[in-house]
Amino acid sequence: MTLSFLKNPHLDLLSEKIETERCIIVPFSVHGRVDMHEVQREFCKANKNLFINPFLPTYEEEYEFIKNIEEGMKTGNSFENFIIEKETEKLIGAVGLNSPEETTMNIGLWIREDKHWKWYATEVYTAVIEWAKKNVKHTYLKHSTNPENLASVKLALKFWGILQDEKTDRGHSIYHISLSV
Ligand SMILES: CC(C)(COP(=O)(O)OP(=O)(O)OC[C@H]1O[C@@H](n2cnc3c(N)ncnc32)[C@H](O)[C@@H]1OP(=O)(O)O)[C@@H](O)C(=O)NCCC(=O)NCCS
Repeated sequence: MTLSFLKNPHLDLLSEKIETERCIIVPFSVHGRVDMHEVQREFCKANKNLFINPFLPTYEEEYEFIKNIEEGMKTGNSFENFIIEKETEKLIGAVGLNSPEETTMNIGLWIREDKHWKWYATEVYTAVIEWAKKNVKHTYLKHSTNPENLASVKLALKFWGILQDEKTDRGHSIYHISLSV
């Protein structure tokens, strides 16, 4: 099976590495790339208002989720990554592209709480959107957000996201971020 959302469907996503000024963005792996307890702990802290997930995962649920995505990335429809801060070599969040439907691709991220307001999300989005422009065959990315999540709304607007009439199943707003400009 090939990866249908890519311009080159044979690209080995698990070998990709995206670099920004302060971060390295590497594909999900449960094999020692990061401490999985830290992933679960920091995800739950960043998502305590349940904006991205409707529940807070246990360690076992988080581990299973990451393991399934890692395996699925060889043949599936997603490109999910840890964000590592270069200076400290610590996990500071995660960013991913996933395509639940054939025709569209979602983008989303979280940054650990003690690193908020430092423009990490802006820096990482810039690099991942550039990567998507080169590698993804869709013309836009879907950024979904609870309208009360002001940081996420600001992020969508910074990347010229266009607010759509449609909503997600959870009633969240959808912005389209163009990959063609
Ligand atoms: C949304 C999130 C990723 C932003 O991360 P961040 O690294 O703090 O974002 P940045 O520092 O790049 O800031 C992006 C913009 O939002 C603003 N901002 C950041 N946090 C904010 C907050 N809590 N309230 C209002 N504005 C905020 C910043 O000032 C910046 O705007 P500016 O460039 O005009 O100053 C982070 O808050 C997070 O992980 N939240 C939980 C998960 C989540 O909601 N993810 C988004 C779903 S797509």
